[in-house]
Amino acid sequence: MLGGIGNRTLLNLSKSDHFRIMPHNLDKNKKIYTTVGSLKKAQTQRKEVFAMRYKVELLTGIRPTGDLTVANYLGAVAPIVELQSQGVSPMVFVADFHAITDNEPATARQYTHGVVADYIALGVNPQKADVYLQSDIAGEVTTFTALLARHVSVAELLRVPTLKDKLKNNARPETANALLLLYPVLMAADILLNRAKKVPVGEDQLAHMEVTRLLARRFNKRYGELFPIPKVLQVKSLRILSLKGEGKMSKTNPGGAIFLTDDAKTVAKKIKAAETAFEGVMNDKLESHILVAKGLAKTESERDEVEAIIQAHKSGKPVMGQFKQLLTHIVQNFLEEFQAKRAEITRDPSYIPSVLEEGVKVARKNAIETLDEVRKVLRFT
Ligand code: TYM
Repeated sequence: MLGGIGNRTLLNLSKSDHFRIMPHNLDKNKKIYTTVGSLKKAQTQRKEVFAMRYKVELLTGIRPTGDLTVANYLGAVAPIVELQSQGVSPMVFVADFHAITDNEPATARQYTHGVVADYIALGVNPQKADVYLQSDIAGEVTTFTALLARHVSVAELLRVPTLKDKLKNNARPETANALLLLYPVLMAADILLNRAKKVPVGEDQLAHMEVTRLLARRFNKRYGELFPIPKVLQVKSLRILSLKGEGKMSKTNPGGAIFLTDDAKTVAKKIKAAETAFEGVMNDKLESHILVAKGLAKTESERDEVEAIIQAHKSGKPVMGQFKQLLTHIVQNFLEEFQAKRAEITRDPSYIPSVLEEGVKVARKNAIETLDEVRKVLRFT
């Protein structure tokens, strides 16, 4: 059972109890009340409830490893922007420790501010969201990673499908660095330090989310109920495929990816060369193109247009040329607007550092609080 510290039923408080107001960051507009009068009585229960509550409703991270693709937007950022518009205060960060698993630290640094500009130009509003850089809370993140890593075996980490694939395709155990092995544990540290409730990620991150959930459960079982179990926010665009149909759309496969930095001509060329499907046939590639078209469309009428073309296609009409034209138009419009916003955001060089400075405050507070509690239960203070 989860609840805030102010949950009367859980804490068994009476109306006459004397309340003290404490700030709380789950909802920036809310205040949390705790008793002074019956503090002792409630102490044990409170510890449990305090530990188990979520601190952040929505959290996601992106590695600064290069220009983002529309798949990064659809898989991770679009759900954040959507929920933010419904009143949720999200937390997003730049995962620079994750980036250095297979990039030079200096390269990650080069892209860091760009990812923040991308988040904002894509719709993350720093007035509502906390935006931070993972290495700005390096001490907490790395300490917690070490404390968590004790609870998963090397064999288990070697079985994580992303690592298995990497070792099969483009890395060898002899040369791959050991941070790669710890990748999912580091991710668990990000999520559990913030006690995040929902994490929107693409399909490639689902196995890592399972490691996070596993570590939270193991920790709770061994040391008491410290962590609420985070959930993956299920989104439609979990797996956007490469335009050419070979695997997922990814920064590492530039020919099949639409980058947020692509100009109109490049977009047209890439979509022209994209694979679709024969009349009347639906396949994964076409389904993925439809997700891109609908996900980037600005208006309902554009989405209806996409739907109408797809219905015509399903009934055997040769409309893939028309579909590609519409897709090109939608992507070009989306990117044009994004690129204009991004140019504006990056005009003032002091803006991004100020967003990060402000955004890390909540993340740091969460991390320090969580790590303090962890150290206490471990008697490692
Ligand atoms: P990264 O930078 O590789 O990717 C950022 C986000 O984009 C999603 N994504 C996709 N979604 C749908 N279709 C695709 N083809 C596609 N390609 C990428 C990714 O799933 C991801 O959500 N490990 C994370 C960063 C991270 C993180 C975290 C995320 C570190 N700690 C804690 C959430 C919570 C990563 O590699 O992102």
